[in-house]
Amino acid sequence: MTGATPRTAGRHFLQIPGPSNVPDAVLRAMARPTIDHRGPEFAAMTRRILDRLRTVLRTSRPVLLFPSSGTGAWEAALVNTLSPGDRVLAFETGQFAALWRDVAARLGLEVVWIEGDWRHGIDPATVEATLAGDARRTIKAVLAVHNETSTGITSRVAAIRRAIDAAGHPALLMVDTISSLGSLDYHHEAWGVDVTIGCSQKGLMLPPGLGLNAVSDRALAASRSARLPRSYWDWTPVLEANERGFFPYTPPTNLLYGLDAALDLLLDEGLERVFARHRRLAEATRRAVAGWTLELCPLDPEEYSHSLTAVWMPDGHDADALRRVILDRFDLSLGTGLGKVKGRVFRIGHLGDLNDLMLAGTLCGVEMGLALAGVPHAAGGVGAALDYLRSSTGVPAR
Ligand SMILES: Cc1ncc(COP(=O)(O)O)c(C=O)c1O
Repeated sequence: MTGATPRTAGRHFLQIPGPSNVPDAVLRAMARPTIDHRGPEFAAMTRRILDRLRTVLRTSRPVLLFPSSGTGAWEAALVNTLSPGDRVLAFETGQFAALWRDVAARLGLEVVWIEGDWRHGIDPATVEATLAGDARRTIKAVLAVHNETSTGITSRVAAIRRAIDAAGHPALLMVDTISSLGSLDYHHEAWGVDVTIGCSQKGLMLPPGLGLNAVSDRALAASRSARLPRSYWDWTPVLEANERGFFPYTPPTNLLYGLDAALDLLLDEGLERVFARHRRLAEATRRAVAGWTLELCPLDPEEYSHSLTAVWMPDGHDADALRRVILDRFDLSLGTGLGKVKGRVFRIGHLGDLNDLMLAGTLCGVEMGLALAGVPHAAGGVGAALDYLRSSTGVPAR
């Protein structure tokens, strides 16, 4: 193709915190002819996928897939379990928590909104105190974003569950794992989560287009009396059709091929090794940021995300101007600041199909970009990251 813009050689570096890099094996799997979604080959694939998704979510209970983005999976969680006017408790950890709140409010739920500074996760003590103060038990669900993608902050889901139990409160616990599933350690069942919300384009290493809900028995029981209108998102026909390996509508067959292949990759590597790899790449990234003498967005080291790092810009410097220089010069995409931290942070995604040298290339692009954009920093962030990658035992190459 000829045009005004000459071709850029080499691979684009997609280091936003999702969509993440799609492995070649997944792309190849999706490039196969679409089959009959009511035939035996399809049914076998559905069963194989749902079975292994339960392994990834660490649950023995149903996991449901929807052709949707993550936003659809948020809505599915709410409309299946709640009734008009129900109260839900939600926390301002960042942009995605705020967007989920908006979905709840538009559906006619009353949101009890705990304000936050976008630099901390959910405080379990606040969860306990708020629920303990809800004497009439009017709060029906707690909405928690496990890994807030706008700020690089991970909230402690197990501690949130303990806080709900300590308050002796019956609210359902709903957890958004959109940027943690398949990247950070997560236990749907052991952590007492009632609905887990996930989607395809991050730790599951697929293109966008699949949303998921993992459900507990309590969530299924709630769905029998919930009165919010639902049709497309209704769990019941999906669960019935899934029993036979099918869907109640035409499913995204080629994305499911991709998911089948991505689950092979995740489980062949081993979940523990996948999580350890993410922890190690995250630590290397944070060492680079410290080496540059830049600040992280999260203030509590206990809450540092292992799937992305949000970097706080020095006063008077625009994160998007930096990102533009890096994209133009090095064909490297970094995540923009969202909502209240627009211009203040840029985000380095290090989730999904990523290894040491892919991260090293990314950090080199950031370090060169900082210099080109005139952002005050110390050289040597890349060196600090490479020292760590070289010397940390981490995950063996094979
Ligand atoms: C934590 C979190 N929740 C929800 C969403 C919304 O998902 P989607 O854009 O696929 O609708 C995102 C998107 O990045 C996210 O990171």
